[in-house]
Amino acid sequence: MVQTSHECVEPTRIPSHNAKGIGLLDAEMRPEVLNCGAEDMDQVTEKPQSTDVWTDDLSVGVDIIDEDHQAFFRLADLLRDIMGSPDENQDMLVETAINILEEYVTGHFLREESAMAAAGYQFLAEHVAAHEAFAARTHQIAQDYKDGDKEVAATISDLVRRWLTGHIRTMDMHYRGVLTTENVDDRPMAYLTAGEDDQTDGWP
Ligand SMILES: [Fe+2]
Repeated sequence: MVQTSHECVEPTRIPSHNAKGIGLLDAEMRPEVLNCGAEDMDQVTEKPQSTDVWTDDLSVGVDIIDEDHQAFFRLADLLRDIMGSPDENQDMLVETAINILEEYVTGHFLREESAMAAAGYQFLAEHVAAHEAFAARTHQIAQDYKDGDKEVAATISDLVRRWLTGHIRTMDMHYRGVLTTENVDDRPMAYLTAGEDDQTDGWP
């Protein structure tokens, strides 16, 4: 069982990272994690900034996780471009992008959580709670859009950027050194979400 020290530091003291707040809703979140500049999900949607982009200092040191995170940014870019160039296909394109986002949320969170569980990560429950809050938010947006609230699509790109940037800089950075290229399942997401019966390459 692998564990690491997770004494939280003030965001401004995290070396070489411009730590930001994140969307954490779980009331039982440990104080040392909550004190890492967390802010609630509503604030994330109310203060969009399109400047949140992938930069190398967002790397968590595991290639496949970095690739997942970069894919989220590309998806946010895609949604921004679709919303910025309305045409007769916009509705179909937005719905497709939202569906992909939901699949990515499920697959990526499963990748992180499975590795954290296998490694005996100390803050697994808190991390899962943060993931579940964001997954619920994206699912609600998807549902609202499909129910006819087309305006909600304009918020998704910035929501993804801001939440992900804050989440990586605080919560994901906490598992640096616990999750490694050796203990993270690096198969494509389709394999991760296909079910526990579809296990190959020796992954538990
Ligand atoms: Fe995470």
